[in-house]
Amino acid sequence: MSEHCECANSRPQGGITFLTGSVLECEQVAKETFRLRIGASPKTLAEDQNGWNILVQQMVPGQFVMVRQAGKLDPLLGRAFAIYQTSEPTATHLPTAAVQSTTVVSTGRLPWVEIVYLRVGKATTAFSSLKPGEAVEVWGPLGNGFPLLDPTHCDHLICVAGGIGQTPMRLAIEEALGHRPFLGRSIHTQNSTGDVSNAIVRPIPRVSFCYGARSGDYLADVSAFESEGAQVHIATEDGSQGTQGRVTDLIEQLVKQDSADSRQRTCLFVCGPQPMLVAVQRQMAELHLHGYLSLETPMACGLGICFSCVAKIKDAQGRWDYRRTCTEGPVFEAQSVLFE
Ligand SMILES: Cc1cc2nc3c(=O)[nH]c(=O)nc-3n(C[C@H](O)[C@H](O)[C@H](O)COP(=O)(O)OP(=O)(O)OC[C@H]3O[C@@H](n4cnc5c(N)ncnc54)[C@H](O)[C@@H]3O)c2cc1C
Ligand code: FES
Repeated sequence: MSEHCECANSRPQGGITFLTGSVLECEQVAKETFRLRIGASPKTLAEDQNGWNILVQQMVPGQFVMVRQAGKLDPLLGRAFAIYQTSEPTATHLPTAAVQSTTVVSTGRLPWVEIVYLRVGKATTAFSSLKPGEAVEVWGPLGNGFPLLDPTHCDHLICVAGGIGQTPMRLAIEEALGHRPFLGRSIHTQNSTGDVSNAIVRPIPRVSFCYGARSGDYLADVSAFESEGAQVHIATEDGSQGTQGRVTDLIEQLVKQDSADSRQRTCLFVCGPQPMLVAVQRQMAELHLHGYLSLETPMACGLGICFSCVAKIKDAQGRWDYRRTCTEGPVFEAQSVLFE
């Protein structure tokens, strides 16, 4: 963890749920980009509905799910997708201990998760012709997720996305702005009696979203980020929308007037293709900015078993070792990642 950045509970404690669900909605949201809502349907057995409830209640921003089409042998393996949105958690009033058991109260509302994906290969091409009612297998929540930032130490969160790297940012922004507390972690203001049970979640005062894409037609769901209350800044390589250039240009514009002290109280969450992560990591070092990269290393099991997803990660002494992106990531402190 960065010395500048105080955060709590970066690693959720919940278990992994294996589920079969139904496609509830699917729509194209940008060029080659699709939103898929999967969850329990009215036909889903009560115990499976409970499983979906647990997934929705236990996840934190920046975590992901593995998804595969039920009954299909090709492709056999699931693919990783950031959790973009979920149904309203139904039991946030329950104490954490109750939620970590499987005893979750169902309120009758059917739980779901949404992913947003770019059609790039076999699985995502097959997903793009899924129809409502078709069966999909999902397991999660997986990975560590973004840390919870403490507004005492961070007063500006900049979420930086390259292309489809925008997907983990929606919930990160919701949490940072205090719109949605995620179970088991929140920075509270205690009331005068010191009772934290009905305390107020303290938001990060300023949240910016820097979103870069090849061209405007690849930008997905920008209005959702605006309505969350983030200050949205767009860059496209061809200049068809926003600033002509890259997300690194947006970061520079945002922080160039800031004092060294103010930069210390700024934190970046970054996700996108590897060349973009390399460029942002270098820029963060030059501008003395700290934060976290979310890696999209190819994965096979998503469960920590196969070691297909390792990345080179440095420790505080500068020694590196392989870390599994699926269990120890996908979020790592920005300067700890060694790119080849
Ligand atoms: C933690 C995590 C979160 C992720 N979140 C998202 C998300 O929210 N949305 C999203 O869209 N993606 C996300 N990804 C990436 C996604 O999992 C991959 O893009 C996934 O592999 C797509 O599956 P596919 O079968 O469609 O493509 P694959 O067939 O697995 O292909 C993946 C990539 O390899 C290339 N490729 C495939 N075959 C070849 C070949 N023979 N030669 C050269 N290149 C080839 C494809 O063009 C493509 O770029 C995430 C990944 C991780 C690890
Ligand atoms: S994907 Fe199998 S160990 Fe990470």
